[in-house]
Amino acid sequence: MSSAEPLTILCYPDPRLHTVARPVAQIDDRIRALIPRMLSTMYEANGIGLAATQVDVHERLIVIDVSEGRNQPMVLINPEIEWASPEKRKGEEGCLSVPGIYDGVERSLAVRVRAQDGEGKSRVIEADGMLAVCIQHEMDHLMGKVFVEYLSPLKRNRIKGKLVKAQREAMRA
Ligand code: NI
Repeated sequence: MSSAEPLTILCYPDPRLHTVARPVAQIDDRIRALIPRMLSTMYEANGIGLAATQVDVHERLIVIDVSEGRNQPMVLINPEIEWASPEKRKGEEGCLSVPGIYDGVERSLAVRVRAQDGEGKSRVIEADGMLAVCIQHEMDHLMGKVFVEYLSPLKRNRIKGKLVKAQREAMRA
């Protein structure tokens, strides 16, 4: 896929995951170098999406690949939701920043999003199914929101405790 050097993914409850991203001002060499590194980070971790927030870059940039063959990367720069279906459905979600945790989140079934691609061209994406869920999940990251924040405080605290313990153990190992 991409041979670019992967980046470190921030893990919940890292407070940096709650940073609100600013717009990408210019698709310059720095952004052009970041895109392949975000893609290789996502592919290496077997994820279907990654927001720049998760690699501690607080700008509105997302990479996604929901394809079966893992060969249809999408780059969304400065994405804005133009429309979200009022029909919602609860589905199981996970997150590379919340390893090993899966739980139900209610999302719009379909969305229409305007974003720039990696070359700066403005595009409109009509998404449903897994792509619609993924776009909403990743755009939440750009607002500093992690999916576990949709869960009950009890569940969220349990997840927090579990991950803090796992991270402590990983550090000791
Ligand atoms: Ni995520």
